[in-house]
Amino acid sequence: MDISVDLTGVVLETERLLLRIWKETDLDDFYEYASVEGVGEMVGWPHHTSKDVSRKILQSFIAEKNVLALVLKENGKVIGSLGLHPSWANEDACFSRLKIKEVGYVLSKDYWGMGLMPEAVRAVIEFAFDRCSLDALTVGHFTSNTQSRRVIEKCGFTFVRDGLYEAKQLGRTFPERKYILLAQQGNQ
Ligand SMILES: CC(C)(COP(=O)(O)OP(=O)(O)OC[C@H]1O[C@@H](n2cnc3c(N)ncnc32)[C@H](O)[C@@H]1OP(=O)(O)O)[C@@H](O)C(=O)NCCC(=O)NCCS
Repeated sequence: MDISVDLTGVVLETERLLLRIWKETDLDDFYEYASVEGVGEMVGWPHHTSKDVSRKILQSFIAEKNVLALVLKENGKVIGSLGLHPSWANEDACFSRLKIKEVGYVLSKDYWGMGLMPEAVRAVIEFAFDRCSLDALTVGHFTSNTQSRRVIEKCGFTFVRDGLYEAKQLGRTFPERKYILLAQQGNQ
């Protein structure tokens, strides 16, 4: 089952990151990484072609209260996002009785390959199970997205099945792989 999650006031701290709700003043940092070609496209959205596009999406993050900004402690810059969204498993007979959210994340290209997203996802796993009492988290990646597959493997998710993801904004359908992490696994 889907439950609503309100991340207002939540601050998660890791070795190198602070995860907190988005603010209007994050617009420049958001546009900086979201306007780079080849970042959003790996998730299903086109890179932003104007600050107005970023502003609209930033406003939806703020209104929906379910996406955290990733702030690099070293320089105070917002370098990515990590959200808790409705999951495909909420509609799946095997999992529909469980409280489940889908994790979605994006990191600025300038910071790829430093293990920052696994660090952030691990903090959100702990938060989701210990403080939100979720039963499971799901995640998925386009089959071609080996970078995200590595994050998912490093964070201990289990492969469930292949599927298709219709990226309406790109006018394309991608083969994707879906994974789950049950609370009892995550807390081991
Ligand atoms: C997926 C993503 C969040 C990974 O974050 P990250 O903090 O770079 O993750 P890691 O540092 O653990 O690196 C993961 C893998 O990326 C690959 N990688 C590392 N540096 C890279 C670089 N500069 N360019 C391309 N790939 C790189 C490596 O295969 C690495 O795996 P390894 O550690 O086993 O070598 C990031 O690549 C990203 O934001 N991509 C665009 C959006 C996206 O794909 N979101 C996920 C949608 S499901």
